[in-house]
Amino acid sequence: MKEFKDRTAVITGAASGIGRAIAEQCAREGMKVVLADIEEEALSQAEKEMKAAGASVLAVVTDVSKASDVEALAQKTLAAFGAVHLLCNNAGVGVGGCVWECTIEDWKWVLGVNLWGVINGVRVFVPIMLEQDTECHIVNTASGLGLISSPYLGIYKVTKHAIITLSETLYHELALRGTNIKVSVLCPTWVNTQLLEADRNRPAKLQNDPDEEMKIKMSPEYQEAETFVREAVRAGISCQQVADCLFNAIRAGKFYILTDPEFVKPIVQLRMEDILQERSPTNPVPTL
Ligand SMILES: NC(=O)c1ccc[n+]([C@@H]2O[C@H](COP(=O)([O-])OP(=O)(O)OC[C@H]3O[C@@H](n4cnc5c(N)ncnc54)[C@H](O)[C@@H]3O)[C@@H](O)[C@H]2O)c1
Repeated sequence: MKEFKDRTAVITGAASGIGRAIAEQCAREGMKVVLADIEEEALSQAEKEMKAAGASVLAVVTDVSKASDVEALAQKTLAAFGAVHLLCNNAGVGVGGCVWECTIEDWKWVLGVNLWGVINGVRVFVPIMLEQDTECHIVNTASGLGLISSPYLGIYKVTKHAIITLSETLYHELALRGTNIKVSVLCPTWVNTQLLEADRNRPAKLQNDPDEEMKIKMSPEYQEAETFVREAVRAGISCQQVADCLFNAIRAGKFYILTDPEFVKPIVQLRMEDILQERSPTNPVPTL
């Protein structure tokens, strides 16, 4: 996709961080922008600020883990702007802890938002794009952690690895059909956002028992990983840098969008060599 002016973009997780920066970049490119997010206050603040800056914006409160919410999002998009050309399935959350210690509620919440959010986006919007038969692009936000395996953040990585293969499969299928729909998978490394405050939007029915959660959070491994990730996110690149990478990639028709290739490629290579040599997985973060 090279032409953005007057086209319509739908961005999930648009009230904060990477999603908000993508939405603002879409507006600067002259697109009509649909902001979808579960956090009502931040969403209406984003809508207000972007409208004040002259953007054509629609905000839709959406829980991406619910198919019915994503269907309503599509209907409201079509009612307001008549079409959709760019879809960014970006909403995401994460929890720490060892895989066997994470609770059923942790698994349901993170799989629901990160993986079902993308599944719902693809199931609802691809048929609309096929019907439109115009140039379209879908960007699914995975992560550098979707390309490697390291200790901790296991649920998050399960979802991000799944998003990579979902996106690769979608890419092949849309190409085989000879469609005008392109696909990219966004794999940021560390970005300075509110991701580590994701609990702010955790639904009441998927909250952990506070005593059980405290036990997990007090373990030395949890504390060590938490400190490492908190520092990495704090020192991460800006959301605007990610939005710039994303638009360059869409213009170039690039599938894998790596925001920090020098850092991530050697680690991906190490993992691939582990597989090809059939040896045990190497820990890419030996300090953990
Ligand atoms: N920050 C990083 O270092 C980093 C690195 C790699 C990938 N990512 C990915 O980038 C994406 C954006 O995260 P971010 O870092 O900007 O964090 P963020 O917390 O700043 O933004 C995430 C947004 O998603 C929204 N959200 C949460 N649950 C939702 C739901 N059920 N339905 C709709 N919206 C929901 C939040 O309200 C928030 O506005 C996520 O998929 C994340 O996994 C982030």
